[in-house]
Amino acid sequence: MSNLNVVNHPLVQHKLTMMRDKSRSTGGFRRLLGEISLLLAYEVTRDMPLTLETIETPLAPMQAPVLDGKKVVLVSILRAGNGLLDGILQLIPSARVGHIGLYRDPETLEAVEYYFKMPDNMNNRDAIVVDPMLATGHSAALAIDRLKQTNPRSIKFLCLLAAPEGVAHLAKHHPDVPIYTAALDEKLNEHGYIVPGLGDAGDRMYGTR
Ligand code: URA
Repeated sequence: MSNLNVVNHPLVQHKLTMMRDKSRSTGGFRRLLGEISLLLAYEVTRDMPLTLETIETPLAPMQAPVLDGKKVVLVSILRAGNGLLDGILQLIPSARVGHIGLYRDPETLEAVEYYFKMPDNMNNRDAIVVDPMLATGHSAALAIDRLKQTNPRSIKFLCLLAAPEGVAHLAKHHPDVPIYTAALDEKLNEHGYIVPGLGDAGDRMYGTR
């Protein structure tokens, strides 16, 4: 699974364990998700291209590194993707944000699109697609199919938990898209949930059922 990057940082792993615990409150879950997404964002942006800009410090002019290109675009797969946005926006406050609305057909487990809104001028932007759970990989693959039609400069996929099935599906359909996750879990169950997982990420972050 060559395009998979597991962020094996002790703080990430500790916070993830607290989130998996079924006794964690909605508020606690959301706070942890915010904290962990900031740490994941640090890793996913590690190789962002830099260019040099001339500035003046109080002592001397210098050529100093700044991020190259247009503003990054974060693409949230609704609704659970929004849980990852806040932490990332703390790290990249000027990022643009796109949304893709998909639901999973409970019979076929296939993803169906109901909403798509991206910033203007996507070409030359680096896109980071966010969704906490990479389960079957169908939603992620469809979201990236649609996103590619807007021609971003690069695409990465960031999630909290991944199942081997989802990683394989995404790697097959989009081998050019690196995947970043806090953990690779064991498998999917017959309902398409990640095991051991953490349950339904959207329900746990919003207190719904
Ligand atoms: N979506 C979730 O929220 N949880 C899973 O385990 C799989 C998909």
